[in-house]
Amino acid sequence: MTTETNTEIARKTNDADTPEVSALNIYVMGKRYLVPAGLTIMAAIEYAGYQFVRSCGCRAGFCGACSTVYRKDDEQKLHFALACQTTVEDGMYLVQIPFVPAAKAKYMIEDLKAEENTILSLYPEIARCVSCNTCTKSCPQDIKVMMYIQNALRGDIAKAAELSFDCIQCGMCAMRCPADIKHYHVAQLARRLRGKYIDTLSKDLKKRVAEVEGGQYDKEIEELVGMSEEQLRGLYNKREIEAKKKKEGE
Ligand code: SF4
Ligand code: SF4
Ligand code: FES
Repeated sequence: MTTETNTEIARKTNDADTPEVSALNIYVMGKRYLVPAGLTIMAAIEYAGYQFVRSCGCRAGFCGACSTVYRKDDEQKLHFALACQTTVEDGMYLVQIPFVPAAKAKYMIEDLKAEENTILSLYPEIARCVSCNTCTKSCPQDIKVMMYIQNALRGDIAKAAELSFDCIQCGMCAMRCPADIKHYHVAQLARRLRGKYIDTLSKDLKKRVAEVEGGQYDKEIEELVGMSEEQLRGLYNKREIEAKKKKEGE
């Protein structure tokens, strides 16, 4: 993370008439900053002197925390992206969306059945979908969001779960939907129902869960908990790497 102060950044911004090589103008909360090309949006915002307290998690495209909305100087279109995965471009007006209010239905998965109306009964608003496809266009994961909602509405739980598999719960779809649907909660319910009631139970998983519950690994876990960071690092570096092992066996 940059250690530059806002004053230093402001000086650079004021110097924008004589920019450094490959410097780009971006706007964060309406204020202009000059940042080097090639950075991700997240790194560029940090370069501009901001520190992420919210709206940042894995920095690797998995957690969905870094939702960004932007519009460019010369465009009508509003864009949706993950700040940790998208490279900064000249003229971006950026806004971070750390949280999208979207209440989740209350349920215990054990009390549900994977039936045609199960999702609809918990999220009746899916019946209000007007098929505008705005949700799909807002998704930084290129998921067919409208399609999984339509499948949930039809009661095809397995398909809704499959189509939404890459959802990282960033909430961009829910923010834009004119029918106020909470897509990612709907998708999560579909995947939970599929995992619990539709897919075949893995025998290996069942066996491993029984081993864990039977205390087979308690001693090893206790040892790990008692180790220092240095010991843990040493252990990690000595781990058996499967690809390497296979290659050696060739
Ligand atoms: S944005 Fe909402 S109303 Fe439009 S297609 Fe998606 S779920 Fe349906
Ligand atoms: S489906 Fe919605 S919540 Fe999931 S990744 Fe796409 S936009 Fe984000
Ligand atoms: S910080 Fe996790 S997806 Fe960007």
